Amino acid sequence: MKLGRNDKCWCGSGRKYKQCHMNFDEKLDEYKREGALVPSHKIIKNKEQIEGIRESAKINIAVLDYIEQHIKAGISTEQVDRWVYDETTSRGGIPAPLNYEGYPKSVCTSVNEQVCHGIPSEDVILKEGDIVNIDVSTIYNGYYSDSSRMFCIGEVSDEKKKLVEVTKKSIEVGLEKVKPWGFLGDMGEAIHNYATENGYTVVREIGGHGCGIQFHEDPWVSYVSRHGEEMLMVPGMVFTIEPMINMGAQEIYTDENDGWTVYTKDGKPSAQCEVQVLVTEDGYEILAY
Ligand code: MF3
Ligand code: CO
Repeated sequence: MKLGRNDKCWCGSGRKYKQCHMNFDEKLDEYKREGALVPSHKIIKNKEQIEGIRESAKINIAVLDYIEQHIKAGISTEQVDRWVYDETTSRGGIPAPLNYEGYPKSVCTSVNEQVCHGIPSEDVILKEGDIVNIDVSTIYNGYYSDSSRMFCIGEVSDEKKKLVEVTKKSIEVGLEKVKPWGFLGDMGEAIHNYATENGYTVVREIGGHGCGIQFHEDPWVSYVSRHGEEMLMVPGMVFTIEPMINMGAQEIYTDENDGWTVYTKDGKPSAQCEVQVLVTEDGYEILAY
């Protein structure tokens, strides 16, 4: 069914179609005719939804700030889990990982050769020289946010320090390519090039995702993609950039016993940083970091 010029826009803004997304849809159709993968209306956020995601993201950021101030050698990842639960719920949020597809904890804590989805445990004590990714996701008022940071515990080796620094910097390199009417592959290729130029590899099987109305939405976001490929970026899209960068080979496997923890096959360290971004009219806005 085609909307009339004076009908209310599909985005829920309450404005007339011709004053809202009509030109946008025409542009989208053009790209589609040329064979581009274009986003569905479902994943384009309106003002109200963006405001909701922004509020959720504020909690996510505050929780990670808290972790940043308290994480140190000698604490268990279970303690990190308690902090995340307490700091999220005291702000009115719900930790999104908790019970998500059977996930048992409130946060993912991935140490050294753990690539992602590490499960907090009393048995995992952070020690000097470890690098750890803390991946926090929040539901607030029905809106989802998702971001993660790397932490170095005490003094870490120069090798690991560089891996963490390159991973952090790769996010900035990717963000430079986030703008409307570009392609996700522009961003993915930039990250991939930057990582490989530094002698690292990039995990292929796990990527980022749309996020906001649900935890994981379209699009799938790869960092081994090519420029001009993957989904077209348009204003109102919200997704995560969360590359996993390996010091050694790209190959990974999932722990058979817990069903979650992902490791590097060669046992070498891996690092990951995650931001949640909104594509704006003229570039991007970081919602969660
Ligand atoms: N936060 C993770 C992500 O970036 C999601 C992990 S799912 C969980 O997508 F259940 F393991 F938490
Ligand atoms: Co994510």
